[in-house]
Amino acid sequence: MTLNDVDAVVLVGGQGTRLRPLTLNRAKPLLPTAGVPFLAHLLSRIRAAGVRHVVLGTSYLAETFENEFGDGSALGLELEYVTETEPLGTGGGIRNVYEKIRTDDVLIFNGDVLAGTDLAAVVDTHRTGGADVTLHLRKVLDPRAYGCVPTDENGRVQAFLEKTENPPTDQINAGCYVFRRSVIESIATGRPVSVERETFPGLLESGATVLGHVDTSYWRDFGTPYDLIDGSADLVRGLAPSAALPGPTGDSLVLDGAKVAADAIVAGGSTVGAGSVVGSGARLEGALVYDDVEIGEGAVVERSVLGAGARIGEGARVSGAVIGERVEVGAGCELLDGIRIWPDVVLPAGKVRFSAGV
Ligand code: GTP
Repeated sequence: MTLNDVDAVVLVGGQGTRLRPLTLNRAKPLLPTAGVPFLAHLLSRIRAAGVRHVVLGTSYLAETFENEFGDGSALGLELEYVTETEPLGTGGGIRNVYEKIRTDDVLIFNGDVLAGTDLAAVVDTHRTGGADVTLHLRKVLDPRAYGCVPTDENGRVQAFLEKTENPPTDQINAGCYVFRRSVIESIATGRPVSVERETFPGLLESGATVLGHVDTSYWRDFGTPYDLIDGSADLVRGLAPSAALPGPTGDSLVLDGAKVAADAIVAGGSTVGAGSVVGSGARLEGALVYDDVEIGEGAVVERSVLGAGARIGEGARVSGAVIGERVEVGAGCELLDGIRIWPDVVLPAGKVRFSAGV
């Protein structure tokens, strides 16, 4: 089944606070991920399912989306943009694009999730079950960090539960839904609405048919630095599905115009951005390196993201770090375990370390 009779909506209006400082001047869905803006990967999945008409619900840094993707024709899509003057939340964002919707069933996506789900199968569950709303639910090993969504033997959603230490199910809301167009119209206008906290529980209360489509295909929410870094590595290695990767899958992705010394190691799904230089003997493992970055001789960069124009000095070690744009990490510095450095900070050689370094 090809979904040419289904419109898609992608919510891209959030501020992406968990990814600061990367999101200070760039919206989360536009952060480079395996060489292209994250949203290009998601749009490639939507296009591959046969959807043609996609509406983006924008708010934070709204104009940057149209600057990047234009009318969508380069992607084989017809893209439209609807901007909230005040952020309306996930439910309000969906309601705000109502006038642009042309089809009876609509696929709605959080703009920071990438999944291998069979979208036609989700729509089929929705139509076969005569649902008002169908949610993609993902089984996860540790559901404690998420809101859980139990279903009965007929796939009907029973409740929307907040995070708890003892979740009664391993099914979580995966951030992809099918809505009947009329349900979108019924969402309140002119004020913020959370689809998770207000719209879905309200539908259950009113006796609407809310179904879950459960699967275990690739799924990742790119909301935190480690998810962005690991998800990018998944894309480079071909573990995450996308038709937008700007090169063949493999252990690394080195973009045109980057220079990597012959004896440097670039592995673990690392990306090296255009204009970046990796010095002799340096080692990159699962690193997401943006454009025009310099990595000095013998430096080590592991599971970290390096903002555009950053410089990593000789012999420095950067592991589990978010390095802002144009940051200079002096030679021999050691930055570990979740540290975030805001743009333009200069760390003198050898002066910031997690160990004595003797
Ligand atoms: P954090 O601030 O780090 O939590 O990120 P976020 O702002 O993106 O919030 P969250 O991850 O909860 O959002 C889930 C999805 O909904 C993302 O794709 C957001 O872009 C989108 N979103 C969140 N709030 C709004 C909003 O007010 N309007 C629109 N149009 N989209 C939103």
